[in-house]
Amino acid sequence: MSRLDAFVQRVTAQRALINAAALHLEGIEGVVFEVGLGNGRTFDHLRDVFSDREIYVFDRKARAHDDSTPAPEFMIEGQLTETLPNLVARFAGRVALVHSDIGNQSPVHCDNMRRLLHETITPALCPGGVLLSDLKLDMPHLEVFPRPDGIGADWYNAYRAPA
Ligand SMILES: C[S@@+](CC[C@H](N)C(=O)[O-])C[C@H]1O[C@@H](n2cnc3c(N)ncnc32)[C@H](O)[C@@H]1O
Repeated sequence: MSRLDAFVQRVTAQRALINAAALHLEGIEGVVFEVGLGNGRTFDHLRDVFSDREIYVFDRKARAHDDSTPAPEFMIEGQLTETLPNLVARFAGRVALVHSDIGNQSPVHCDNMRRLLHETITPALCPGGVLLSDLKLDMPHLEVFPRPDGIGADWYNAYRAPA
């Protein structure tokens, strides 16, 4: 498979799962965590489908285009190892969706980010809350979030807190 094909598969799965999470979360209150602003592409989509929710966005530094940069009060800059535990404590049990897209080509970085998510993220989720992740995780206290038709398990990872 070409890198272009792989990219298309990945972002197709990412968008389909975000949209499925939005449907599932109708009637469930909670804020959204966007972990990894990057160029703001998924933040811009989250803003569309979760227009009535607060979206807290994490990255080392906001480097997206101005149009896709959150307001300062929702932009949490700094190392995730420092910022994420603080915000999880602040919003414990009140996060409806965590969308985490923080992997890169470095296996060491990906292992560190997996460890961080394993150790911190579950208490953030409200009952029925959804965790979407580019990194495959081992989340013993979460259920599998059903995948939309045609979205294979290889491309994006989805978990759900018990209702
Ligand atoms: C793949 S990009 C996110 C892309 C984004 N979802 C989009 O659609 O534009 C990953 C982002 O995570 C951030 N990131 C990765 N590890 C981090 C860490 N330890 N602390 C803070 N930010 C981190 C990077 O700076 C990068 O901007």
